[in-house]
Amino acid sequence: MAELVVGGVTAVWIGHRADAALVRADSAAQRIAYMTQPGIPGTIARRLAAAEGAAAFLIEVPDGDAAKSLAVTEEVCGRLAAAGMERGDLIVAVGGGAVTDLAGFVAAVYLRGIRVHYVPTTLLGAVDAAIGGKTGVNLEAKNLVGVFRHPARVIVDLDILGALSPAARRPGAAEALKAGMVGDAELVRLLERDGLDAPIDEVIERAIRVKAAVVEQDFREAGLRAVLNYGHTVGHALEVAARIGHGEAIAVGMVAAGRASALLLGFDAEDRQRAAIARLGLPIAAPAVDADRIRALLGADKKRSGGVPRMVLLAAIGNPLVAAVDDATVTAALTAVGIGGPIR
Ligand code: GLY
Repeated sequence: MAELVVGGVTAVWIGHRADAALVRADSAAQRIAYMTQPGIPGTIARRLAAAEGAAAFLIEVPDGDAAKSLAVTEEVCGRLAAAGMERGDLIVAVGGGAVTDLAGFVAAVYLRGIRVHYVPTTLLGAVDAAIGGKTGVNLEAKNLVGVFRHPARVIVDLDILGALSPAARRPGAAEALKAGMVGDAELVRLLERDGLDAPIDEVIERAIRVKAAVVEQDFREAGLRAVLNYGHTVGHALEVAARIGHGEAIAVGMVAAGRASALLLGFDAEDRQRAAIARLGLPIAAPAVDADRIRALLGADKKRSGGVPRMVLLAAIGNPLVAAVDDATVTAALTAVGIGGPIR
């Protein structure tokens, strides 16, 4: 069992068999709204809510990103109001990143802010989405409307996460490897050695510590926090253009960023990184995709400056920086993952 604090605000508990009392923690809420999604998260939320008796009720939102909309936000706020939720009450989000992003946003705006706790049910949620305080919903673009607001508590139940299949763990493993690449060489070694069998408690705690250290220095993403987007520039473009999952996309994105890092900064762990990605069963090359569309998406990336694309690069494992990337390097990075040319 481990307890750590993120941003001086979020108490993160990592352990086994979290019960309703642990999830509620020191909240004196009269009413607890359990927000969740269909499937296993809903089953877990129902078990926790049942232990709270009449104090708790369930709000099930649509699966995945369909939950992240202003329409769902309005509906959920209406349900909270109808249930008489007051400022001293509590929202508990049980589910993946879409549910915690929505619940965090609702908790920030309902009555101008009530307390929220997260119980991530995916590895991706535990190492990334539940940590860091970015909340929000989608409009024309992803996360166009949202606020920075830490949850009061994150409960990482290793029994829930340990029961996930290897395929379900892969997206989170990709983010954990990313965390290692930007801030924890020992985490990289663990994943290189054991792949998806690496001790899940240590992987989660180390990945959270990397993210916490960055978020503590730059909560509102004025600069440094961008390093958490290592692998995400090409990765996000692939998510859009090739419609592949986040974990697969950032795995390929890390291979591309590794190539650019080697060319511009002499990064010497490119092959190690590629082998670690493959060891996790994640792709090291892109699926067939329109290279021009990828280039157009890279041109529109949030990190561009003066029309020049910028990427998170590594001078070494644990030494990231954001840098402008010239066209030849972009081409080489894309070629390294088979976009617009052969895999080198
Ligand atoms: N909620 C994810 C983050 O803050 O990065």
